Amino acid sequence: MKRQPIAFADWSGREYTAIARCLLSGRVHQGPHPALLRERLAQMYAPSAVHLTNYGHHAIDIALGIFKRQRPERVEVIVPAYICPSVIQTVEACGLRVRSVDVQDDLNMSPADVKAALGADTLAVIAPHMYGCPSRMGEIEALCDLANVFLIDDAAQVVGVRQDGRLLGTFGDAGLISFAQSKTIVTGIRGSGGVLLVNRPTWAEQANQACAALPPASGRLGPLADFLWNHVGHVHTGHSGYYLGRALAVLGRSPVAHQRATQISHLEAGLALAQLSRLDALLLEKVRIAQAYHQALQAYPLLRFPQFAPGRFLARVMLLLPEGTDLEGVRREARSRGLETRTGYAAHVAPGAEAPKAQAMAKRLLGVPCRPGMSQSDVEGICAVLDVALTTNSRS
Ligand SMILES: Cc1ncc(COP(=O)(O)O)c(C=O)c1O
Repeated sequence: MKRQPIAFADWSGREYTAIARCLLSGRVHQGPHPALLRERLAQMYAPSAVHLTNYGHHAIDIALGIFKRQRPERVEVIVPAYICPSVIQTVEACGLRVRSVDVQDDLNMSPADVKAALGADTLAVIAPHMYGCPSRMGEIEALCDLANVFLIDDAAQVVGVRQDGRLLGTFGDAGLISFAQSKTIVTGIRGSGGVLLVNRPTWAEQANQACAALPPASGRLGPLADFLWNHVGHVHTGHSGYYLGRALAVLGRSPVAHQRATQISHLEAGLALAQLSRLDALLLEKVRIAQAYHQALQAYPLLRFPQFAPGRFLARVMLLLPEGTDLEGVRREARSRGLETRTGYAAHVAPGAEAPKAQAMAKRLLGVPCRPGMSQSDVEGICAVLDVALTTNSRS
């Protein structure tokens, strides 16, 4: 089989032109793009107010800060047990307690489980759409309204998808988007962009002040080079980026993105605008690839694609391997046959909670390539390799 690498972004000539323009004009950090991006997103997400930052989790931080000031006596935040670790870290860094709720096959919380977890201490619910698969937001929003609990519609991974006629990200009190790798809109590696959406006009000023007070973006050329070398050009550059990174670290010039909150850069806002101008095509391509996997998997009943639904956008294709599979063994075997894979998140179960489904699924989920332009025969070849890797690595 020809090499099948993972893709972290779907970039065309428009994105590279946007980078070239910024570099040639000498404007990387400051420039007009953030204001233009804000305007574009405000049109798209109206009536939600739009605020820009450099990370999606900083949007959560700002929203939780506002909620805490409203209801200081409440200290718990409901979060799914299968989630990006930065969400957990942000809740804890705000001095709040995480309450984990198990997920269903689609890797999202069910409204019934959210309802069961609501209590007198609940300040907020954070409801993500895992890998772009939509949570049942209308029902979760109604539950939160009834319980007088704040809701964050975490659309970090999905842009431009509607549920019940409303864009994901606009349910509840606040929402967010991230532009980091493997999302719908990708502007680079970590820290390349985040959006806070605020649905209560009375909070707009607080959110505005929090974002306006952020320091300007800085040091973004290193992360861009890192992204281009290791995540876009990795098909050609192989592991060289790892050794280069170590050499740079020794010289005190590590390209690793910092975690601190800043404004979004002119460069990355320009990339977001280029990606938004292709949004329909980006979404359709991922729908096509998910459909191609669904079709190819008909021949391999051991491999499940639990998040699939006809016509559904998925930012990543995550397959569920059978119980008793040695996940790392499958990955090794696949790699030896030219197939790159990745794992999902580890389940996070807060003390005192149980999340058997998230824990079981996290150990068996395998991310497979969903690169733009993949053909049906690429996808069939990938499924065939996985089938062989599974037979040689089944523990039971
Ligand atoms: C569901 C979800 N929420 C929030 C975040 C945080 O986004 P960022 O990495 O931009 O802080 C992520 C990142 O992967 C995510 O997947």
